[in-house]
Amino acid sequence: MMFSHLTKLPADPILGLSALFKADSNPEKVDLGVGVYKTADGRTPILGAVQQAFARLSKEEGSKVYIAPSGWPGFTDACAKLVFGEDLVSDLGDRLGAIQTPGGCGALRLAFELIAFSKPDTTIWVSTPTWANHVPTLAAAGLSHKPYAYYDQKTATVDVDGMLASLEGAKPGDVVLLHACCHNPTGADLLLADWKRVAELLRARELVPFLDMAYQGFAAGLEEDAEAVRMIFASQPEALLSYSCSKNFGLYRERTGVLFAKGEQAAARDAFVTNLAQLARANYSMPPAHGAALATTVLEDSDLRADWIMELSSMRDRVNGLRRGLADAFAREGFGDRFSGVARQTGMFSLLSLSPEQVAMVQKDKSIYFPANGRINVAGLTDENIPYVARSIASVL
Ligand SMILES: Cc1ncc(COP(=O)(O)O)c(C=O)c1O
Repeated sequence: MMFSHLTKLPADPILGLSALFKADSNPEKVDLGVGVYKTADGRTPILGAVQQAFARLSKEEGSKVYIAPSGWPGFTDACAKLVFGEDLVSDLGDRLGAIQTPGGCGALRLAFELIAFSKPDTTIWVSTPTWANHVPTLAAAGLSHKPYAYYDQKTATVDVDGMLASLEGAKPGDVVLLHACCHNPTGADLLLADWKRVAELLRARELVPFLDMAYQGFAAGLEEDAEAVRMIFASQPEALLSYSCSKNFGLYRERTGVLFAKGEQAAARDAFVTNLAQLARANYSMPPAHGAALATTVLEDSDLRADWIMELSSMRDRVNGLRRGLADAFAREGFGDRFSGVARQTGMFSLLSLSPEQVAMVQKDKSIYFPANGRINVAGLTDENIPYVARSIASVL
């Protein structure tokens, strides 16, 4: 038999938590698991600018015929300008290729497939820790990986010297997967000065940077969060960027992303786009249109764009306020500086220094749900539940 040896697999550790949370009848329960933005009343709403774009699109979109493998007209160009800025886009010219993908995950997978197709013995270097889906995705494309030092739990910041020392072990042509901002799961980002040290090492050792950007606008602002990406794409001969519109446009289920690739030769774009289109064709054929059409409508209309930027700032401000609130609440519980890093970190996640047993106790006894590695989705906090969360965590430490 072909399939009879297959057995039921355990639920995905993070997605499985959502089901447990739903089934929990404790009125004080708190969901700090799945990485989606939430309002103070626990909703993940459709952004106003996106709703307006939808209203417009539903009047104008006269057909559901396939879109091109490269994506919805104007989408990748609009995203390129958002991430790289107009000047760099024009400097990069034909050396920059882009293809629309089904979400950031689709961009990651397609990039790994391109690497495997082009140079199958490439090692992908990943941060310790990294987002839980990175290694399965690169492995599914047939690639191998090695870890580089990243997070220093004591200081709740990046161990830059350790990171550079690990990367000294990479061989020319290896790919270094970097989180462009809002590192998932730690919330600890490189400072621009650190990025410059990393860029020097990449160049000196002929390593290829692959930036994963799923949270543009969630750290300090759209422009600020793109500084590292711009510096890397301006300074390195080759670079990759997987871009997700899931969080900053709230388009999660619409699977909206882009893969950007910069090459050295003058007409790298055509080689990238045709090779990526061929890999996509043998995989999912062409990307879904709806999310990209919405994001393009928002980005190309000055009023909708301004509304979106405001909504994004308010999401960012809310998460940053919650970070400060949680750090203060921990301090009030008598932890001194132990959790103060939460307030300085960026994006939706922080990695609390709890053992898997302590995480299990908080879940069982207090109905607070987050994965065993201690990663919390800060956006799942509210001003009301912060004291309960800090007190509950204190009770297991
Ligand atoms: C670091 C990182 N990369 C990529 C993604 C991919 O996002 P999506 O495929 O939902 O666009 C995520 C989503 O959580 C992420 O956290």
